[in-house]
Amino acid sequence: MMYLCEVSDVAEGAAKRIDLPERPPLAVFRLPAGIFVTDDTCTHGLASLSEGEIDDGVVECPWHQGAFDIATGKPCGAPCTIPLRTHRAVVSDGKVFLEE
Ligand code: FES
Repeated sequence: MMYLCEVSDVAEGAAKRIDLPERPPLAVFRLPAGIFVTDDTCTHGLASLSEGEIDDGVVECPWHQGAFDIATGKPCGAPCTIPLRTHRAVVSDGKVFLEE
C-alpha cells in the first residue's frame, strides 16, 4: 500500500490533490460516505478535479463543468463521456493509503 495523506489533510466535503512520482496525480475526496480516491485529471481535458465543486458525491470539473460520480468514476455531466479512473483507498489510523 502507498501512503497518500492524513485524513485530516482533507477538509470534510472537499478534495486534495496528491502528486506522486512517475504516475498521474490522484485526488483524495473526503465525503460523508467515506474517503474516495480517483485520478485527479479530468478525462475531458487537463483540469484538476480536486479544484472542482463537490456536491452530493459528484465532482464538477472547474473547466467546462463536466461531472463525475466520485465513488464510481462514471461521467454524469456533459461534456465528460470517458469514465474517471477510481482507486481503492484504505484508511488506517487516520492515514489514507492507496491499495495497489
Ligand atoms: S476539462 Fe473537465 S470538463 Fe473539460
